[in-house]
Amino acid sequence: MPKKTVTTLDPKKLLVAPSILAADFASLGDDIRRVEQGGCDLLHLDIMDGHFVPNLTMGPPLVKSIRKISQLCFDVHLMLSEPINFVEPFAEAGADHITFHIECRNNPADVIAAIRKAGCSVGLCLKPRTPASTVIPYLDQLDLILVMSVEPGFGGQSFMSDMMGKVAEIRTAIKKIGSKTHLEIDGGIDRETVKVASTAGANMMVAGTSVFRNPAGAEHAIRELHDAQRYLNA
Ligand code: DX5
Ligand code: ZN
Repeated sequence: MPKKTVTTLDPKKLLVAPSILAADFASLGDDIRRVEQGGCDLLHLDIMDGHFVPNLTMGPPLVKSIRKISQLCFDVHLMLSEPINFVEPFAEAGADHITFHIECRNNPADVIAAIRKAGCSVGLCLKPRTPASTVIPYLDQLDLILVMSVEPGFGGQSFMSDMMGKVAEIRTAIKKIGSKTHLEIDGGIDRETVKVASTAGANMMVAGTSVFRNPAGAEHAIRELHDAQRYLNA
């Protein structure tokens, strides 16, 4: 299957990326079908190594299995100390897009080159305490910048609204060079915080808990997030 990278998605649109970390792994296929039919724009896969973050999640075999049941763009978020070792395995398993952390141990230019070589679009992520100035120099080589609005490692945490200055700063830099880079935000996004994040300039919303554990259902949750399009400053 040809890769469906994030460059196929409109950066002026508010895009919803459910994070399967909050899905029920005993019925993962059904949960993924539900968000795909519910109108989400891509699927966010959180990969943790128990080293870069204090948690473990999934590896390439799981990605390969779910690749068979979904046409969505797979947005793979590598929370790994040495992402370079895992670019190819995840790309082969079915990743369309790969984001890695600026705080990792590898040289960012090497990881960017490896992701491109694997045929995926490229994203760079920064943790809450990392300033925007660390990623802006790479902007012209990136398809996506991911701002963490929680400390990476776990779902279900509260949104850090003090990250919005950083989102606005990166949005200004994107506008300045007229780039189509997506600005994604991850952690604590729900029907209220999505308004704050889109006003600040984020166009791609990762949402785990508020989508998969929404009492009104995933489709309703996705619609509520899409409704914040009117706030989007992109
Ligand atoms: C945290 C992950 C997030 C997380 C989001 O390390 O990167 O994607 O699953 O989950 P919620 O939406 O529950 O904050
Ligand atoms: Zn994530």
